[in-house]
Amino acid sequence: MTSNEIRKKFLQFFKEREHTVVPSSSLVPDDPSVLLTTAGMQQFKPYYSELDPTTTVHPLISKPVGKNAASVQKCFRTSDIDEVGDESHLTFFEMLGNFSFGGYFKKEAIKYGYDFITGKDWMNLPIEYVTVFDPSKVPDDDWRKGVPFDEESYEIWKEIGLPEEKIKRDGVDVFWGPTGNEGPCGPTTEIYIKTPDGKAVEIWNIVFNEFYRGSDMKLTPLKTPGVDTGMGLERLVMVSGKSLSIFETDLFVPLIQVLELNDIKNKLNQKTKRIMADHARGIAFLIGDGVRPSNKESGYVLRRLIRRFVVNEYLFEGAEPYFEKLLHVIVENYGEFYQELNYDLIYTVFNEERIKFLKTVEKGLRELGALESLDASLAFKLFESFGLPYEVIKELGGEKAEKLTREDFEEEFKRHQEISRAGAEKKFGGHGLILDTGELKAGNEEELKKVTRLHTTTHLMHKALREVLGDSVHQMGSDITPERTRFDFSFDRKLTDEEIKRVENKVNEIIKADYDVKFEEMPKSEAEKTGALHFFKAKYPDRVKVYYVTPKGKGIPEAWSKEFCGGPHVTHTSLIGHFKIIKEEGVASGVRRIRAAVE
Ligand code: ALA
Repeated sequence: MTSNEIRKKFLQFFKEREHTVVPSSSLVPDDPSVLLTTAGMQQFKPYYSELDPTTTVHPLISKPVGKNAASVQKCFRTSDIDEVGDESHLTFFEMLGNFSFGGYFKKEAIKYGYDFITGKDWMNLPIEYVTVFDPSKVPDDDWRKGVPFDEESYEIWKEIGLPEEKIKRDGVDVFWGPTGNEGPCGPTTEIYIKTPDGKAVEIWNIVFNEFYRGSDMKLTPLKTPGVDTGMGLERLVMVSGKSLSIFETDLFVPLIQVLELNDIKNKLNQKTKRIMADHARGIAFLIGDGVRPSNKESGYVLRRLIRRFVVNEYLFEGAEPYFEKLLHVIVENYGEFYQELNYDLIYTVFNEERIKFLKTVEKGLRELGALESLDASLAFKLFESFGLPYEVIKELGGEKAEKLTREDFEEEFKRHQEISRAGAEKKFGGHGLILDTGELKAGNEEELKKVTRLHTTTHLMHKALREVLGDSVHQMGSDITPERTRFDFSFDRKLTDEEIKRVENKVNEIIKADYDVKFEEMPKSEAEKTGALHFFKAKYPDRVKVYYVTPKGKGIPEAWSKEFCGGPHVTHTSLIGHFKIIKEEGVASGVRRIRAAVE
């Protein structure tokens, strides 16, 4: 059976059983609690708690849905991004689902599931086993502990004729709550099917929505209990065709073939091909639904997909326009079902971002070429400043990169994440770091990199001002955004053009010399003895960090600049780029203000 036939069969099965077929909603949901649509139930969420499905006009069909619905829903899960490349994980996928809002409940839902999977006229597949919710299997401190054993589902499966050893009691994977925490939720029963290599894969998740979970994780009985189910189309096609992976189904084979046909030098490995095929679909559907690359939220997800795709194109013979070729196939195969897939528009958005990103990559590669040697920390800096991923550095770093290992690189990555977490808050599973120290403001990881570079620049500028204008210069205030640093300092007259030039030159000289930027934590009294700059009036804790900028490999005694500071900073000055003073003006008597930027 082809994927197209399976889609149609699924909808036909439920249409014959009094379900309204509703088209897929957009990948960009109305629901502000989630970034992207991750499940079929999302567009129906209010029908379980506030809206009446029999009277509310549904925007996609211009009439009420009624108590039962079925759909094939476009979904996107960012949580699976790093797993893509194995047998069964994807970012974009299609979810088949049937729903009831105060209509039928466990008995019918389980029977439908059983009939569709095993029925001779339908999927005609044997069930390996099913799971039902049992709180005795729930970890002790888990919030689901209080939910009773789902005896009803257990009995229904028994009545249908499933032997008891095929009805497994579980407590971990069998309670579904929507992403974004708040919303309808309840115990589930899941259907597993065997693949040709003997593994059992989860095919269908049948959720019995009984509770509403508040933002405090408290459960209250739902106004309209009902059914919410989800079955990944890709996995169903895989088990139906006895394939070993979703990439061997008709949803992916044409994409993988296009990659192989154009991979003349045979350089693409299996994982890369899978990632490219997955990401091409994700990119096409996200752009089709109106997402554009940016540094925020769904725009950032799209940007990540495009960049990862482009890196692979670049790495494996950059001249091949793989994306265009894949996009042709995607539009051809999906265009009938999803009319929002417009080749020209998707190509234009993708290509603009590709060109922009390649410029940064090339800058990074020049930097890599200029380095005398390379270790994990330098490699990470190239990633941080230019977006050069490990694979690119390893592949194009030549002899320099011979000793570089992924392990060391990831170690460095983790270390850095820990540092930026001091004062940073995690949002959306790490896709948007927020930093607000009062002095430094960043809304996401990209901005964080920029303000970090400008923060170190501010220290350099402070020191250079003191060298050029004398020790009467003291910091009076500082404000750093991704675009510029604004620095107020004590001084009683306008700076001459020549003084400004000397400050700029000094800072650029230190950047070029690639000094190390390090810190040491120590008792305040000891820190004061180092001569590090600090606000005399400020209240510091008993232990403070001293950040210092020192010639390569040297310590605090040789440091050129020393300041009390919480960070974050770049780890060596060449990462900053070119420094330029944009404006110098007076803001109060005896106080000057400089705005400066780096490129
Ligand atoms: N909403 C359920 C899921 O996504 C069916 O698994």
